[in-house]
Amino acid sequence: MEYFPIFLRLAGEPVLVVGGGEVAARKVDLLLRASADVTVVAPELGPRLAALLQSGAIAHVAQEFQPEHLNGMRLAIAATDRNAVNAWVAHQAESRGINVNVVDDRELSRFIMPAIIDRSPILAAVTSGGDAPVLTRRLREKLEAFLPHRLGDLAKFSGSLRALVKKRLTDAPARRRFWEKFFDGPLAADVLAGRDPATVARSVESALVQAESAFAGQSGVGEVALVGAGPGDPGLLTLRALRVLQNADVVLYDRLVSNDVLDLARRDAERIYVGKVAGTSSSQADINALLVKLALEGKRVCRLKGGDSFIFGRGGEELEALAQHGIRYEVVPGITAATGCAAYAGIPLTHREHAQSLTFVTGHAKDDGDMQVDWEALARPNQTIVFYMGLKSLPTIIAQLLAHGAPGQRAAAVVEQGTCATQRVVTGTLTTLEHEVAAAGLDSPSLLIVGEVTRLHETLKWFSAEAATDETLAAGRLSA
Ligand SMILES: C[S@@+](CC[C@H](N)C(=O)[O-])C[C@H]1O[C@@H](n2cnc3c(N)ncnc32)[C@H](O)[C@@H]1O
Repeated sequence: MEYFPIFLRLAGEPVLVVGGGEVAARKVDLLLRASADVTVVAPELGPRLAALLQSGAIAHVAQEFQPEHLNGMRLAIAATDRNAVNAWVAHQAESRGINVNVVDDRELSRFIMPAIIDRSPILAAVTSGGDAPVLTRRLREKLEAFLPHRLGDLAKFSGSLRALVKKRLTDAPARRRFWEKFFDGPLAADVLAGRDPATVARSVESALVQAESAFAGQSGVGEVALVGAGPGDPGLLTLRALRVLQNADVVLYDRLVSNDVLDLARRDAERIYVGKVAGTSSSQADINALLVKLALEGKRVCRLKGGDSFIFGRGGEELEALAQHGIRYEVVPGITAATGCAAYAGIPLTHREHAQSLTFVTGHAKDDGDMQVDWEALARPNQTIVFYMGLKSLPTIIAQLLAHGAPGQRAAAVVEQGTCATQRVVTGTLTTLEHEVAAAGLDSPSLLIVGEVTRLHETLKWFSAEAATDETLAAGRLSA
């Protein structure tokens, strides 16, 4: 992040604008909207600034800029059409520790001014730091269209109710739930539709009574959402998952969940890592107990797992523990590694000519090293088999398939860090794959796909670091 985004309260604060033309006038307009105390320094003023001076909205120093003009100023903006003057203003402001903006010159500017969407008191600001002004404008247009016209009224209306709601709902989680329901419900819709606020305010009473009785019955009891975070690319998170994540008080997450997914949680939500640390892992019993404890404390818990929680994710065991304690839960499915990796590797998992069935198998062996699977069935043709956690057992898996009748030329592939910008795909046959994987130095997390469909990777592959979305690139590597 090159810039630190803040909103500055400028009401009554002295701000210097150097320049008397149209560009300076546009900056002055914005400053006046924030009720700043604006002084313009310029030998002459253009018509817009002259009119503002006439109306008493600004002060004017009819001189060339002098460093003393900066004395006591909070901010300075250099908006003349002379680069040397602008640079002089910037230099002087910097040496006095006054934040300065030079119009259209980010190198000289300490702060830049974003595109804004003003639904005061709601303000949205967008910037590309000067890299992509057209993109910024596009985003602003989209936000303008997306944000309801009366959003500011809604914010003010809810602000007027805060004290009352706080008095009636003393429990903080109950209040948060009330507000979530409020903003998603008919009362907010009425305000946004322009109904008389006094009429809407009368309906608030019944909403509060309802909330009091709803939350009284379940005080102290939280809930858990088991959420599949997908295989890595944050763009593969479902809308439902995003919503749950943003409403959660606590997020319990695994090692395969990327930081960018975690960043989507509420800023004040507690984040608890329950994955592997240096070869040890929280035991499943510990995780189950923690989920139960947090829910009994009244928290809304998001249990975030890589891929899908019900596919080699031990989600069922966690739900059993919750069910035993009568805790409410929901399950939000995620894109499992098999579908995510196959899609991003250009490997269709089924194909009319090559594979009429699809099997997901865990390559994780039991303590005695024995994988409890029907090798004879897995060795048959016309199918695709996806082995999760199969990298370590790759030699065993290949040996077993060959021993049970699979031909050495059967195609197979390993996808490492699937769906991430760092994805790598290695293809081969049962005879060659082990060598190819070792030569490439593939590491965990990796997914083994066995079947003729993997030959299609060469012709159907499409994903590369260049094709990765910004979200995928930002997600970087999954930790092994
Ligand atoms: C414990 S399993 C969890 C599977 C997860 N619940 C799912 O639905 O994808 C972990 C295994 O999933 C596979 N895996 C998960 N994410 C992956 C990725 N981005 N690329 C390749 N394999 C992945 C690897 O085989 C890894 O060892």
